[in-house]
Amino acid sequence: MDERCCIPDSASSSDAYWLLLQVLSLIPLWHYLLLAAFILFSLLYNFLELHFFQDLFSGFAGSPVLLSYNSSSQIYHAVVSKCDVLRGRYFATPWLCSPHLQTLFLNYFGRPPFLKYARELFRTADGGTIALDWLFSSHVSDNVGYEDESVPIVVVIPGLTSDSSSQYIKHLAYHTAKRGWNVVVCNHRGFGGVSITSDISYNAGLTEDVRAVVNHLHKERSKAPLFVVGTSIGANILVKYLGEDGENIPVAGAVAVCSPWDLLIGDRYLRRGRVQKIYDKALAFGLLDYAKLHQSHFSRNANWEGMEKSVSVRDFDDHATRVVGKYEVSVDTYYRRCSSATFVRSVSVPLLCISALDDPICTTEAIPWDECKANKNIVLATVKHGGHLAFFEGLSASRIWWVRAVNEFLGVLHSSKYMHVQDKEFSTKSSIGLIN
Ligand SMILES: *[C@@H]1O[C@H](CO)[C@@H](O)[C@H](O)[C@H]1NC(C)=O
Repeated sequence: MDERCCIPDSASSSDAYWLLLQVLSLIPLWHYLLLAAFILFSLLYNFLELHFFQDLFSGFAGSPVLLSYNSSSQIYHAVVSKCDVLRGRYFATPWLCSPHLQTLFLNYFGRPPFLKYARELFRTADGGTIALDWLFSSHVSDNVGYEDESVPIVVVIPGLTSDSSSQYIKHLAYHTAKRGWNVVVCNHRGFGGVSITSDISYNAGLTEDVRAVVNHLHKERSKAPLFVVGTSIGANILVKYLGEDGENIPVAGAVAVCSPWDLLIGDRYLRRGRVQKIYDKALAFGLLDYAKLHQSHFSRNANWEGMEKSVSVRDFDDHATRVVGKYEVSVDTYYRRCSSATFVRSVSVPLLCISALDDPICTTEAIPWDECKANKNIVLATVKHGGHLAFFEGLSASRIWWVRAVNEFLGVLHSSKYMHVQDKEFSTKSSIGLIN
């Protein structure tokens, strides 16, 4: 009798499993390895939120930029609708087909252009020091010696733990200066290699410093239109500043890139996702590095012991940021009071907001779509991919899409009649009031 084909009637279930095992053992090992590799690849593909196949099937054409605006917005009809970059598509670098790869590449490589700033130290009324890093167009282009007082100035507000030396800031500064405009990076207090010289350090809602710098620039160079570009936390500070000051502001136009919008929602998002927790830790380590550079300030004005143990942005904000900023009760109070989303409706200057829908740090959940739509001065441009502040494009990933979008928007706005002009009577009236 052939043992292999005949199963006795009395076969128990354990015999069945034994038989199954024998059958499975007939499958060559390399088939199993292939299956394991496939499963591993699928897990990694999902974990990294890769979109390579999506790109492949769409013929590497990228995805269209989604524009959200009030139907009677002149900023859309007269400015944004003339911007090819914003009316076009964004196609991510094929080998950076994931928000995480984009964001990591920006932070570890970034391919920043070579440039050298000229430093100006700005003193605030409370004794604080702000490092202003200038990049003049004459330093990066050929028209040496050409100085026109009406050349626009772009003021840049960096993100959390970023300064003028950060890769994306260099991309923005270089390409803006290359176009013929002057750039000044307004580093946060304690950044750019300067000490914290008063009891105040920066937080997500501290708008006094940008206001002071913008007013200073407006006084010194009254003929130059002033544009402000804020990135990440810098975008939150920018929108809050624009909302607080409304019409009475010497800013001609602005761009908010990858703003967190709502710090409470942002905090919950960072603490919820598995991948987000990694970002949260990394951001907290960055904050601790910065705090350790200014130990005497933080041990005097914050809870140093608690702060040192921070493993999340929330911990750091709880022990340091909100204590230094004197936000009472809880860190949530600080988040609520400083969220720029609540200031959106009083923004009175042309404002372009750019965000990636797959931003792994500043979640789309926090984007105030309806509030932006209700304000005619605001156009919201979102793209499907891009990560946080990355948006690399081209095969060599040497260009950043949002930098091109910012420059084109500001250029078209500058040549339109829709730049914001501060009401002269406003400032004269208030100075007469002062004399009386
Ligand atoms: C557009 O703006 C007008 C006036 O500012 C406002 O009444 C209207 O509700 C806005 N539209 C949307 C969709 O919010």
